[in-house]
Amino acid sequence: MNAAAGSAPTKVHVPLGERAYDILIGPGLIAGAGREIAARLKGRKAAIVTDENVAAHYLAPLTESLAEAGIAATPVILPPGEKTKSFEPLMRACNEVLAARIERNDAVIALGGGVIGDLAGFVAGIVRRGVRFVQIPTSLLAQVDSSVGGKTGINSRHGKNLIGVFNQPDLVLADSDTLKTLSPREFRAGYAEVAKYGLIDQPDFFAWLEANWQDVFAGGEARIRAIATSCQAKADVVVEDEREMGRRALLNLGHTFGHALEAATAYDSSRLVHGEAVAIGMVLAHDFSARMNLASPDDARRVERHLRAVGLPVSMNEIPGQLPGAGQLMDAIAQDKKVKDGKLTFILTRGIGQSFIANDVPESEVLNFLKEKHPG
Ligand SMILES: NC(=O)c1ccc[n+]([C@@H]2O[C@H](COP(=O)([O-])OP(=O)(O)OC[C@H]3O[C@@H](n4cnc5c(N)ncnc54)[C@H](O)[C@@H]3O)[C@@H](O)[C@H]2O)c1
Ligand SMILES: [Zn+2]
Repeated sequence: MNAAAGSAPTKVHVPLGERAYDILIGPGLIAGAGREIAARLKGRKAAIVTDENVAAHYLAPLTESLAEAGIAATPVILPPGEKTKSFEPLMRACNEVLAARIERNDAVIALGGGVIGDLAGFVAGIVRRGVRFVQIPTSLLAQVDSSVGGKTGINSRHGKNLIGVFNQPDLVLADSDTLKTLSPREFRAGYAEVAKYGLIDQPDFFAWLEANWQDVFAGGEARIRAIATSCQAKADVVVEDEREMGRRALLNLGHTFGHALEAATAYDSSRLVHGEAVAIGMVLAHDFSARMNLASPDDARRVERHLRAVGLPVSMNEIPGQLPGAGQLMDAIAQDKKVKDGKLTFILTRGIGQSFIANDVPESEVLNFLKEKHPG
């Protein structure tokens, strides 16, 4: 990471050999996208995959910037929302990319949140057995998490993200200006993933967030620093374990409980969005670690205090509507994770910034814990 001088963007390099790429972070990057892309890719055609919400704000300036750099762009505009990560929109996007005569040296550009990034990355990986791929993430979650690391794909009726490929982008442009039009709720949800990096293995970053979160929410340098620190943290893990055979699982801190809550609310974003589920899940993971005598309950309270301060939900009681009982939540956890001989793999912690992968968590302990936290 290099601290930006003047208006130069902050850069995080992801050193993955022949799949290495840069993440540029800062304001005004959409206006400069044509130059950055033309400098890295040979092709002079691009398909911009985006959703209706994001297109309304950023499709025109991106198309103009590409045109100035001699790149002719065709838009592929999909409906917003998680349902877009499914076969029909995938097929439509593939066909529109082919109709635009995108060749292997040309680019598919994902302009949007994690839904668009995951879908467009998959399209770029399979059309003509792979064309170039640029991520322009526009949600905080996409800027700090989904646009980095190369996991792409769609959902199946058997579950989320079950159909896809590893496909690293050639470039990520995280334009911090785009976050100005993101809803405060979506911004907070993305912030849960930022805090997650502190809780995994960077206690100093978590303490910095506790002291500076208001500046991160306000925008400016603190926000760019939070995004860059997050991208660097994710890049470090991905470089060590690109295909999640080991350490990359740490990125799932809070996600085992979180995914169960998302399933329990039928992925209804009016009740719960992913980052909110992760916030509750991270508090539960710290509480459960304390219950197992691995960490101090004070750490769980500290996590809870910070996430509540920024406006995130921190307990299951805050989810609107009726939740299924502990038994059903446990079933969702068991489905999400492999259970072997009544033992689960979980990300637990010894304290703030001391997370680890535990392979032998007794299912019965998790069930008892859930019954305490969520009687009924
Ligand atoms: N590939 C990975 O490693 C990875 C990691 C984490 C999450 N994900 C995936 O990411 C998805 C969630 O991403 P998300 O939270 O960005 O959701 P999203 O893509 O649905 O975006 C959230 C909402 O914000 C809108 N939006 C996005 N940017 C905007 C902007 N700048 N201004 C105004 N509106 C804007 C979108 O239209 C959408 O309505 C999930 O499908 C999840 O599975 C993938
Ligand atoms: Zn997540």
